[in-house]
Amino acid sequence: PRFYALVPAAGSGSRSGAAIPKQYVSVAGRAMMGHTLDALLAVPELDAVLVVLSPQDDCFESAVPQFQGARAWVARCGGASRAESVAQGLRELQARGAQPHDWVLVHDAARCLLQPAWVQQLMAQCRDDEVGGLLATPVADTLKQAQGQRAVATVDRANKWAAQTPQMFRWGLLMAALAPVLQGEAAHITDEASAVEALGHTPRLVEAPFENFKLTYPADFALAERLLRSRA
Ligand code: C5P
Repeated sequence: PRFYALVPAAGSGSRSGAAIPKQYVSVAGRAMMGHTLDALLAVPELDAVLVVLSPQDDCFESAVPQFQGARAWVARCGGASRAESVAQGLRELQARGAQPHDWVLVHDAARCLLQPAWVQQLMAQCRDDEVGGLLATPVADTLKQAQGQRAVATVDRANKWAAQTPQMFRWGLLMAALAPVLQGEAAHITDEASAVEALGHTPRLVEAPFENFKLTYPADFALAERLLRSRA
């Protein structure tokens, strides 16, 4: 089978507080997404990396000029939700020759601290798996069930993991899981694994460091900046 990375990058990033979509916010000297795409292109086992942009996107070429070459694919088919952007990306992969048994690694543009070695670990642990799997990290905080600002119960953190990306599934299973999204349903899906679980499958959890966090709030950007600069 082939291995494709699919990067949904069609969001507006309203929680980041920035005026431009967050994947274009500069982190350690360049657009956040540039770091993300470099890490994926540095994985030689990936046959291609497909970025899914919003049809209205007019930043990509100037913000990420180094995303070039035979393995660097761009499609302007993003949708109203992350899940829809992923589903449209799957169609694009099919148009470019992907087969149902090929693997697709979906990765958030906003997880720009990704290291190639983590991707390789995911691939090594999932390539013989019946279902596929995802990077995730065990939850360190005690979790509260809330009603408004009141804690009404404590959720045992044992056996709780925070889902990250990449999330790796075969094209056929992923398309089956996300098909409702293309019919305008289930737009609330926040990751691929949950859609696969809804079909009764149990994706494999592959432990990754917290450092693979998704940049969401303003403070996340400052932390990512420090971590990226300390690597250089
Ligand atoms: O908003 P959130 O951080 O959950 O977005 C996760 C990823 O999904 C981001 O990389 C974002 O660009 C992408 N996304 C998308 N299409 C949307 C919404 C989000 O590709 N309509």
